[in-house]
Amino acid sequence: MQRTPRVSIFTTPHDVARTLARRVAAALRENPRMVLGLPTGRTPLLFYEELVRLHADQDVDFSQATTFNLDEFVGLTAGHAGSYRTFMRRFLFEHVNIDPARTHFLDGAAADLADECERYEDSIAAAGGIDLQILGIGTNGHIGFNEPGPELDARTHKVTLRPETRSSNAALFGGDPASVPTHALSMGMGTILHARTAVLLATGETKAKCVERVVRGPITTTLPASLLQLHPDAELMLDEAAAQELDAPS
Ligand code: GLP
Repeated sequence: MQRTPRVSIFTTPHDVARTLARRVAAALRENPRMVLGLPTGRTPLLFYEELVRLHADQDVDFSQATTFNLDEFVGLTAGHAGSYRTFMRRFLFEHVNIDPARTHFLDGAAADLADECERYEDSIAAAGGIDLQILGIGTNGHIGFNEPGPELDARTHKVTLRPETRSSNAALFGGDPASVPTHALSMGMGTILHARTAVLLATGETKAKCVERVVRGPITTTLPASLLQLHPDAELMLDEAAAQELDAPS
């Protein structure tokens, strides 16, 4: 039996981005109504750049696609400069022909956050589930905002962000970790594992140790990304820097 997640190693982060963007473009041609789960962070930026280029050069059509973003900070209104909704608009949605009504986000400013999480799960189900969930990874092994801990919430929920996560998101808040919200809403690991296909992108040597544990280590809630070992169709797309610990003999 093939081991999961599959590991694909590319020379540069650009190669990772180009390959995934081409794959998404082909999948959209095959199924224009595809449902995509999307991440934020620095890692997917090149991938979004490639998608924008493919839309401009090759008419890749997003008009019937549906998207669900993985997570959002609590307390930020939709237009806030640091919100993931703003991030997605700036780096992808403003540059392709996606229908804004088909782009879904958690509302971190909702009056009742538990209701908001339930609404999100219901919308994903109503869309027929996620076809392709694209993921990044935090240096502590989080995916979405599922932080390491003794247990994990299966479904979309409110999370307390760890200091290292607030630091790595500081760029969105003028570089000041103290300005990063203390809480977020995130799809749960169950939500993520229910996507038909999952692709985790990791580039750069800061991710190498974590990647090695995701591929070789035990499945543990202290490394949420390790749960991808349970997914029947999961893949890690790595550049050489992020894959460097995999070359070492175990
Ligand atoms: C944030 C996001 C994650 C993302 C992570 C890694 O915490 N919530 O979804 O994977 O950042 O970010 P980067 O790609 O910048 O390393």
